[in-house]
Amino acid sequence: MAEIVPAREDMLDEIEAIERLCFSQPWTRGALRSQLDAESHIFLAALHDGAVAGYAGAQTVLDECYISNIAVAPRFRRQGLAEALLREMERECRGRGMAFMTLEVRAGNAPAIALYEKCGFLRCGVRAAYYFDPREDAVIMTRFFNSQAKKD
Ligand code: COA
Repeated sequence: MAEIVPAREDMLDEIEAIERLCFSQPWTRGALRSQLDAESHIFLAALHDGAVAGYAGAQTVLDECYISNIAVAPRFRRQGLAEALLREMERECRGRGMAFMTLEVRAGNAPAIALYEKCGFLRCGVRAAYYFDPREDAVIMTRFFNSQAKKD
């Protein structure tokens, strides 16, 4: 049984382990912890039978929401957890009056791009050679809430 909850300090060990498993340039413990500041961040965990199976973190600036990380542990993938995290992120954004939520994704990360498109994100631009290890372009994808570009 999966549920989406606000991330807590005592979940950081599990979140950090998933971060290291999923990314070639993982965020440090301190960077992950900084997202626990709920005034300027939205930090969510997906629990599976009480254990952390995935998470999503974002920083808010005025009415803009910048998603920093989203990951699901390999053995829990394709069960709808990332989609549930993004739906809850959207609900939280709307509650806080955000105009959009946006992120960068590796151009070759087909699973993530399919996820974002399913959740209503639009391709809004490219940052050339944004990533390294390996070098790759970033696609900027944005989910608008209040503009003409809105897609429900
Ligand atoms: N291939 C194609 N589409 C995929 C996919 C895959 N491997 N994984 C997810 N999707 C798309 C599908 O549209 C899927 O809907 P469907 O199951 O109805 O077809 C939708 O995303 C939702 O999938 P979900 O089960 O919620 O995704 P997930 O929990 O498996 O997590 C990621 C998806 C991308 C977060 C996960 O693969 C992951 O952690 N990857 C490594 C970290 C990463 O790349 N994060 C994104 C950085 S920008």
